Amino acid sequence: MTEGLTVEAIRQGLATTVVGRGLEVHAEIDSTNTRAVVLAREGAPDGTVVVAEAQTAGRGRLGRRWYAPAGSALLLSILLRPNVAPLQAQRLTMIVSLAAVEAIGEVSGLPAEVKWPNDILLRGKKLGGMLTELSVRGDRLDYVVVGLGLNVNLDLSALPEVSTPATSLLAELGQPVSRVVLLRALLRRVDDYYARVRVGWSPHEAWRERLATLGQPVTVGTPEEVIEGQAEDVDADGALLVRLPDGSLRRVLVGDVTLRGHTV
Ligand code: BTN
Repeated sequence: MTEGLTVEAIRQGLATTVVGRGLEVHAEIDSTNTRAVVLAREGAPDGTVVVAEAQTAGRGRLGRRWYAPAGSALLLSILLRPNVAPLQAQRLTMIVSLAAVEAIGEVSGLPAEVKWPNDILLRGKKLGGMLTELSVRGDRLDYVVVGLGLNVNLDLSALPEVSTPATSLLAELGQPVSRVVLLRALLRRVDDYYARVRVGWSPHEAWRERLATLGQPVTVGTPEEVIEGQAEDVDADGALLVRLPDGSLRRVLVGDVTLRGHTV
């Protein structure tokens, strides 16, 4: 394990206005997302962040588990309560992925990218993932919890057999990265972007620039079917636009993508 994460260490020099106002750090918890949802229901403030060194029941998308050996990763969930329509919820996931790739670039110099919809890729392998959970009240979002897991100082041999090739900053850089420094850089960026989203800015163009998926031949698994085509674009709601072999365009809002010719 590298340096431990503590509330004091994270707060040191963290000049954010909303994100991190409430901050919990757990040595071990079932899932930071589960905890953040409980806090949301109890009325915790906008910007509350839950961090853990280890999770006993870390959750991934589509009912999958999320594994990370204690002290090797950044495991966090951010509770946001913007006064916006439910259709804009994807903007919150977009800003966390943007903040993640930018913070990784700043702290390690490594060129992370976003894989639609919610993965962080590095050199074609999975470096991290996001799980967003939300609740709606009337015609507004009540809360959004964006959970992020990033393999920072993970020794890849410690991972269980997984079908998706994974990597870590340690594996790519050949040296450990300070998780506290990375976390502060991440939270600062989320805070900046979140201020803009609250006044109506859409991160769609900036997010699109960071997508590894566009222009690639893809296989897309949706809850209804599996389709193959060319990932052409994303729209403002974050949906993937796939050009099918018959020339038609399919809009996919929920799904999982494999870049064909790659294993991720
Ligand atoms: C995925 O790629 O399937 C999404 C993984 C999301 C994992 C993070 S780790 C912190 C937060 N707490 C959870 O239980 N899940 C998310």
